[in-house]
Amino acid sequence: MQYSFQSGVHPATLTTDCIVLGVYADKTLSQAAQLVDEASAGALQNHLAIGDFTGEKNTNSMLYAVKNVTSPRVLLVGLGDKAKFTVDSLNNATRTAANVLKKANLTQVSSFLIQELASEHYALAVRHSLLTLGDVFYTFNAYKSKPETAPNLNQWNLAQTETWEGELALQQGLAIQRGNYLARDLGNAPGNVCTPTYLAQKAQELANSHSTVQLTVLEESDMEDLGMGSFMSVSKGSDQPGKMIVLHYQGASAEAAPVVLVGKGITFDTGGISIKPALAMDEMKYDMSGAASVLGSFQACVEMQLPLNVVMIIAAAENMPSGRASKPGDIVTSMSGKTIEILNTDAEGRLVLCDALTYAERFKPAAVVDVATLTGACITALGHHTSGLLSNNDALAAELWSAGQQADDEVWRLPMNDKYQEQLKSNFADMANIGGPAGGTITAACFLSRFTESYPWAHLDIAGVAWKSGAAKGSTGRPVPLLTQWLLNRVAAA
Ligand code: BES
Ligand code: MN
Ligand code: ZN
Repeated sequence: MQYSFQSGVHPATLTTDCIVLGVYADKTLSQAAQLVDEASAGALQNHLAIGDFTGEKNTNSMLYAVKNVTSPRVLLVGLGDKAKFTVDSLNNATRTAANVLKKANLTQVSSFLIQELASEHYALAVRHSLLTLGDVFYTFNAYKSKPETAPNLNQWNLAQTETWEGELALQQGLAIQRGNYLARDLGNAPGNVCTPTYLAQKAQELANSHSTVQLTVLEESDMEDLGMGSFMSVSKGSDQPGKMIVLHYQGASAEAAPVVLVGKGITFDTGGISIKPALAMDEMKYDMSGAASVLGSFQACVEMQLPLNVVMIIAAAENMPSGRASKPGDIVTSMSGKTIEILNTDAEGRLVLCDALTYAERFKPAAVVDVATLTGACITALGHHTSGLLSNNDALAAELWSAGQQADDEVWRLPMNDKYQEQLKSNFADMANIGGPAGGTITAACFLSRFTESYPWAHLDIAGVAWKSGAAKGSTGRPVPLLTQWLLNRVAAA
């Protein structure tokens, strides 16, 4: 799909295959619809008077050959209650229009929906539209011998009757959409393709195409030398070599403290010796979704040329049972020097992340955010709509919460205090890698918090939101919308 921005245009005189106009639930016309109604001597009001289409949300009505309108089609989309119109309503209307037009016999449309948010939110509306449209039009055909047929529609114009300089918003929105697509493509790629080596290649491709980006890959021997015994305790069970993939983007002065994004990159999680049951185990190819989302967000940040320094670290390994795999009861020493009793080899995410978090100290970060499909308990707690947020810093937690609200990529903070820390007590080492069945998302974060004491840190548990199961099985590319919104907000606040 090609996207462009059209500003200061009259919907009745646009040469295109279809114009998309919003109507509110009380049959109130949007500004663009009003213009078309006037040009057509009341054709839209006449249509609404029939009563079949009233502007309720998730409804639409196609009009053909409207008098004095150049475009042969006018798609009216319900916006719902005007008083309750939000970003969510905009996204609903955009999704409704896209789903109708995807199946239609046309190639080009101009949609006037972004104008329904207040003018100070136009840039946000553009970014939302590109993510929603990106979601509707996303396909993953790389492994099908006959790809599904593409829709005829190939050009979507975001249009405004007013004059507004929207090019920057369009370019930023497209960079975020591409970041989201990168995260989805990596998530959906099968475990036999998307290995730690493959993730390192993708990072290499990004570094090759941008002079502002530098790549460092720590190989297993480097990690041994650094004392990353915790990471290695997971990686050593697999024939695929583990990698710590580090990308640096310099968008600000060299002295400016960077933001560090850390991703869990378990390219397949069998559980190891504490092996998982067979049902839906294929979905554990998505256990690198944290890594995919930080790489996608990093790419978007680089393409937007944000004036920030950003470091991205992916802890990439495969969690396998083998003769070389860790066993329950094994004790390992992390890079921090702290010892860990591995009571369950399926709690591997925290084992690879803790060494990445210790490694992050050397960048003297302004803030560190790690993203991980860390616990099934997070799905029990928050379901499939909201990511878990745990942090040692109230200001950082608040920033992430509001970015999630703005981006419609929501997070909810869970508590993390010393009472929970006690659950990690081990009889034989400094800590155990599990905290028992109660509060599993919290005790996982408590484990990570022991490696993040020297900087502001937040942890996002995306176990419930990173992918969809069932008939619509596929990666969501979350939380790229949240992370990119947060980075944009930090730029605006600087
Ligand atoms: N990758 C899983 C968490 C997960 C499970 C995410 C299902 C999404 C769907 C993680 O490595 C894991 O296995 N966690 C264990 C921790 C337990 C052993 C303390 C879990 O959640 O069961
Ligand atoms: Mn696991
Ligand atoms: Zn896992």
